[in-house]
Amino acid sequence: MRKLIVANWKMNPGSIKEAEAIFNGLSIEAKEAKNMDIVICPPFPFLSISSKIKIKNVIKGAQNIFYETIGAYTGQVSPKMISSLGAKYVILGHSESRLFGDTNEIINKKILASIKSKISPILCIGENIRDTHGEYLSFIKNQIHECLISVSKTQIKNIVIAYEPIWAIGDKALRYATVDEFIEIRIFIKRTIADIYGIKVANEINIIYGGSVHKENARTFVIDGEAGGLLVGRDSLIPKKFGAILAAIK
Ligand code: PGA
Repeated sequence: MRKLIVANWKMNPGSIKEAEAIFNGLSIEAKEAKNMDIVICPPFPFLSISSKIKIKNVIKGAQNIFYETIGAYTGQVSPKMISSLGAKYVILGHSESRLFGDTNEIINKKILASIKSKISPILCIGENIRDTHGEYLSFIKNQIHECLISVSKTQIKNIVIAYEPIWAIGDKALRYATVDEFIEIRIFIKRTIADIYGIKVANEINIIYGGSVHKENARTFVIDGEAGGLLVGRDSLIPKKFGAILAAIK
């Protein structure tokens, strides 16, 4: 399977000019990574961005959407709107969006709405802390079950699952996740998916890793941990650093 590398810019950078420079820089780096798909997820105002350098494996994505299509929803953006700007993916359930009100129930509605508009959801799941009683496993299982309510066996094929342990995200991360911690959860996610959709679907679902991905650990997650790809935050804003991640897993 082609690896999926997602660049999550979060609420960066501060202007369209800077966004264009980063987008061009990432496109240049992506040119060398033909066996991967690079999904660049800028903030909404920069979604119409395109690079002078047209690279086939560079795809656009958004960082969230609302579940309605059109109407009186001040401040919201629909899957149809991002689709009309060329987006093919959307990050849903990111821990930072959950902080501002996205519950499993809302995320579920957003997943169903995205699929209807032919936008592939990248569903983020992950625990706040790794307790010693293994409660994080039931937490993750519950996230999967609740976010996937009414998602059919055919629809699930459009979804990518990103395991993002909250404690390993951002510059305030407690520590880095180990590859063994990722493998444990990758297997656990597959088992949970198998319970709902059967073994075949579980074997096919793409599970990627996110949380302080850098050039030093990218290869371990993808090669040793068999991650289907990576979700990169900070290092996706610096083309050279992003390029080094792509080079490490090539
Ligand atoms: P980070 O962010 O790579 O800066 O840790 C990852 C994420 O939150 O998606």
